[in-house]
Amino acid sequence: MAGVDKGGNVSAENLNALLERRYGADAPSLGDDVNPVLQALLSHKSVRHFSADSLPDGSLEWIVAAAQSAASSSNLQTWSVIAIQDPEQKAKAATLCGDQEFIRQAPLFLLLCADLNRLTTVSELNELPGEALDYFEMFLMATIDASLAAQNAAIAAESLGLGICYVGAARNKPRELSELLQLPPRVFALFGMAIGKPSETDVSAIKPRLPQAEMLHHEVYGWTDRKQWIDRYSATMSDFYLSQHMNVQGDWAKHSAKRVATAEALSGRHILLDFLHERGFGLK
Ligand SMILES: Cc1cc2nc3c(=O)[nH]c(=O)nc-3n(C[C@H](O)[C@H](O)[C@H](O)COP(=O)(O)O)c2cc1C
Repeated sequence: MAGVDKGGNVSAENLNALLERRYGADAPSLGDDVNPVLQALLSHKSVRHFSADSLPDGSLEWIVAAAQSAASSSNLQTWSVIAIQDPEQKAKAATLCGDQEFIRQAPLFLLLCADLNRLTTVSELNELPGEALDYFEMFLMATIDASLAAQNAAIAAESLGLGICYVGAARNKPRELSELLQLPPRVFALFGMAIGKPSETDVSAIKPRLPQAEMLHHEVYGWTDRKQWIDRYSATMSDFYLSQHMNVQGDWAKHSAKRVATAEALSGRHILLDFLHERGFGLK
């Protein structure tokens, strides 16, 4: 069994076994000490089948405490999170977020937002112009802060025996989602995260990643035999798709190239720059 059991609990599977799941034959050979944090991190897998059980009391608060414990640029804390638990509101959000059924199933759906509205208020309260808020840098900062917080939330949820799946499709229909969430100006829903107990029928597995030889550069950006690593990884992923009965057209490289081939492949997200301007982000 993987490092996470049916209930989502991290088992004591040794770290080398987890490295092998992540990298296959290209796994680095490292020590095999017990390290629960590394075990939890290396055991991550997205879950898209949730049981109907509601979350144990306190789960949301623990998850948000972990999210808020992430580092934050200048401690500006330029993000907010909207927790949707009401089934009706969640169903509406699911429809707008790529109509993904697992969002309806999950008892909790978080929307992670870049939030420059709070600093607008802080500026007004201090009678300062808040001019920097009109620059792209501030939007980027908010996006980075929200992403760091989200990943802490994900790990916290997994440590509580829950499964998670990020939802980038939250940007497919940004106007409609902003309206549903009643977002004020300078608040933008970056992505969602469905959270719940993995269902009995969940068959998710640890997904391999590109070898470190392709991802990790020493001192300067170094060029490896990139084609070799892409081919090797594509072959590994083809085996993974087969083992998981996943209906993926072509191998990883083909699938990924198609994903960035056209503006249409952005599933409606090509309008985001205009939309952000509309919502009061200067992006200078
Ligand atoms: C920002 C972000 C957005 C994502 N959006 C979706 C989504 O809308 N639907 C989905 O099924 N998975 C989504 N995913 C999950 C990825 O497909 C998944 O993380 C990736 O395939 C790697 O698999 P793993 O998480 O099981 O290791 C998203 C992941 C991230 C980080």
